[in-house]
Amino acid sequence: IPHLDTKYIGRKVRYQRSVASTQPLAHEWAKEGAVEGSLFLAEEQVAGRGRMGRMWHSPTHSGIWMSLILRPQIPLNQAPQLTLLTSVAITRALRKQTGLNIRIKWPNDLLIDGKKICGILTELRGEQDQVHYVVQGIGINVNATESVWPEELKLIATSLAIEAGKTFSRPELIGAICGELEALYEGYLNHGFAPIRILWEQYATIIGQEITVRTGLHSVKGIAKGLAENGALLLETNTGVQTIYSSDIEV
Ligand code: BTN
Repeated sequence: IPHLDTKYIGRKVRYQRSVASTQPLAHEWAKEGAVEGSLFLAEEQVAGRGRMGRMWHSPTHSGIWMSLILRPQIPLNQAPQLTLLTSVAITRALRKQTGLNIRIKWPNDLLIDGKKICGILTELRGEQDQVHYVVQGIGINVNATESVWPEELKLIATSLAIEAGKTFSRPELIGAICGELEALYEGYLNHGFAPIRILWEQYATIIGQEITVRTGLHSVKGIAKGLAENGALLLETNTGVQTIYSSDIEV
């Protein structure tokens, strides 16, 4: 990874050209004792996983498909904060590297003009109430052209190359992401979530807007006010402020 100025994030890398998904491979690596910041990278995933059991389209050469291992000493109920931290870090790195107006849709989609360029899948293993380790799967559509996607994806997805009209070096982007991640993660471990929350709210698409949140069969309508200290979304409804944990939201 070029231009890597981190102490541990991205310092240990495993790479395979083609995998089913980088997630189970990173879990195995973590169980074998992979150090914090270890990164599993693939060129192609034939069974990439998205949130909520969805699949993640990960064609060869066109994106960054990687899983990051973290070992924060935090209680399990704070783990959602890590997803928000990572979405802020990637947003900042990609904005700096590409100049594109990247925004965050709660909880963890990165969008350009409403179309998805990045998804984050946080999977954790806990022991009692503490996080044992976290595997964060990060998928970024970098140099994809629309021709690599099925029809239904073209409506909802885009790539950095489509938006910027030029391609980007994936190793350079990974280096920049590792740098932002380590800076924010160190800040988080030393000073808590509050600084991340403020950054997140600056990049978020939904603050102040009326949104509908679907949780299973129910849906709740309200104004997105911001984040609670633990990373949940605060929704002002006509029956008061509700705290929403990760689910799909509709704007
Ligand atoms: C989502 O938005 O649903 C999350 C998508 C996460 C995709 C990444 S790509 C690398 C890692 N390996 C996977 O199988 N999924 C994640």
